[in-house]
Amino acid sequence: MYTKEQKKLVSYVRVRVKELMNQYPAKAHGFDHAKRVAKWAVLIATAEHANIFLSEISAWLHDIGRVREEFFGHKKRHHELSYEMCREWFREDKRFDALSKEEKLQILYALRYHWNDMANDYAVAWILRDADKLDGFGKLGLKRSLDFFEGDEGKIEVDLRLRYHTLYNLRSRQAKKIVQEKNMLEPVEKYFKKWLKEKIEPVAL
Ligand SMILES: [Fe+2]
Ligand SMILES: [Fe+2]
Repeated sequence: MYTKEQKKLVSYVRVRVKELMNQYPAKAHGFDHAKRVAKWAVLIATAEHANIFLSEISAWLHDIGRVREEFFGHKKRHHELSYEMCREWFREDKRFDALSKEEKLQILYALRYHWNDMANDYAVAWILRDADKLDGFGKLGLKRSLDFFEGDEGKIEVDLRLRYHTLYNLRSRQAKKIVQEKNMLEPVEKYFKKWLKEKIEPVAL
């Protein structure tokens, strides 16, 4: 699947991201999240006959900016910080010289716009977004949401409502198929409906 050089770079990126994220574990967006997104990205890119290598690299790197956002008080949104950090890594770390200019641009674009469903200049961008979205579903996706918002009911409510928006915006057939076949909406929906029911109290005059 990958050339020897690509394999070497993927494992180097994985280790560098792991070291960073284990040192600064961002809430619900640690190394385990990156690992699952990388797995989904490979699956989706394979089914879509897209660039698997760039999709996987982008997935490993996509949330590195959360470290600066959460631990170093940077005010920009994490997508922008991931983009900025990745540019720095590309400039400072010779290992990334294995990538061509075009490959670097695709990765940077995917990182910067992994929040924006209209940014479709490269397939890698929407593949990353689909892979990232998948990690919001299933029991784990629900747990991530609850962990991230630490009991803030208002934020959890909005976030769970957003799952339907996310589902609507999945672009690849493969991602839609995964959610459907693995019944990944169910745990989220079940929790949300139960929560809604618990909020119903008798009305009185
Ligand atoms: Fe992100
Ligand atoms: Fe993410």
